[in-house]
Amino acid sequence: MLTPKLKTLFITGAALLVCAPVALSLAAMDPAPADWPDYEYNRAPGEFKRNKYGMIDPSPDVVSLQQLPVDSYGFVDWTKAMKDSIIAPRESISGKAPRLGPEDSEAFSGDVLIKSKMKFMPDVIFPHSAHTEWLKCSTCHPRIFKKKAGATPITMTGIWNGQFCGRCHDKVAFPTRNCFKCHSVPRSTSK
Ligand code: HEC
Ligand code: HEC
Ligand code: HEC
Repeated sequence: MLTPKLKTLFITGAALLVCAPVALSLAAMDPAPADWPDYEYNRAPGEFKRNKYGMIDPSPDVVSLQQLPVDSYGFVDWTKAMKDSIIAPRESISGKAPRLGPEDSEAFSGDVLIKSKMKFMPDVIFPHSAHTEWLKCSTCHPRIFKKKAGATPITMTGIWNGQFCGRCHDKVAFPTRNCFKCHSVPRSTSK
């Protein structure tokens, strides 16, 4: 018969025996594939990833975000990453040139001031340049936004429901939790 004290000792010992090798093997694990020095980032679209023996490597294409700059909230700062040439996104997922309409030939890189309807929130600056680096004009005009400052009745509830800025932010662009990345100008200084 084991006394309760001995029983505890026995269980602790057994647990240690099982856990220690697991902990050791975790510590010795390879870094993520994306951190391998010769990781192949530049495969053509649709081309298989291969290991060093030339066999198809079925592991998922996980790309480490560790090397990318972050904003004050700790989210990846994609605009800075592109400006600093850390990333160079393709023109399209397929790699083919995007289809452009006549409305996409115009250039515009001004910032649009969107005045806040509520006293307690700073005004919003919409920077065209940060968007047109990634998107064409017809992505937003005229379906999402009118091409005239103040003409679109943008509301925060709408954004949270996936309209206006919320078509992309919270989905593929930085999350709306980051209030002051959009509400970035104090009301007192905006003209
Ligand atoms: C992607 C950009 C963006 C982010 C992020 C964002 N907002 Fe807004 N917000 C806007 C725009 C554009 C408007 C419309 C102009 C205005 O009234 O300020 C707006 C409007 C508002 C308004 C005015 C009332 C209304 O319903 O339109 C409030 C209040 C507000 N936002 C609060 C917030 C809070 C709180 C957060 C963070 C949790 C936040 N916003 C994050 C873009 C943003
Ligand atoms: C990510 C969305 C988005 C893209 C892409 C975009 N715009 Fe805009 N644009 C806006 C928003 C938002 C406004 C302000 C609308 C409002 O206040 O109602 C605006 C306003 C404008 C205005 C009016 C400015 C003013 O001061 O009245 C012009 C002109 C304009 N855009 C041209 C362009 C052109 C040209 C392109 C392509 C090079 C483009 N936009 C791409 C979102 C976008
Ligand atoms: C069609 C998609 C789309 C819409 C609509 C959109 N954005 Fe963006 N926005 C992006 C993408 C993509 C980026 C770059 C990636 C990121 O920062 O997450 C971006 C980045 C930004 C940035 C960061 C710029 C920088 O210099 O870091 C701000 C500020 C911003 N958006 C504000 C707005 C506001 C305000 C609206 C609505 C008036 C809006 N966006 C609507 C896609 C969009």
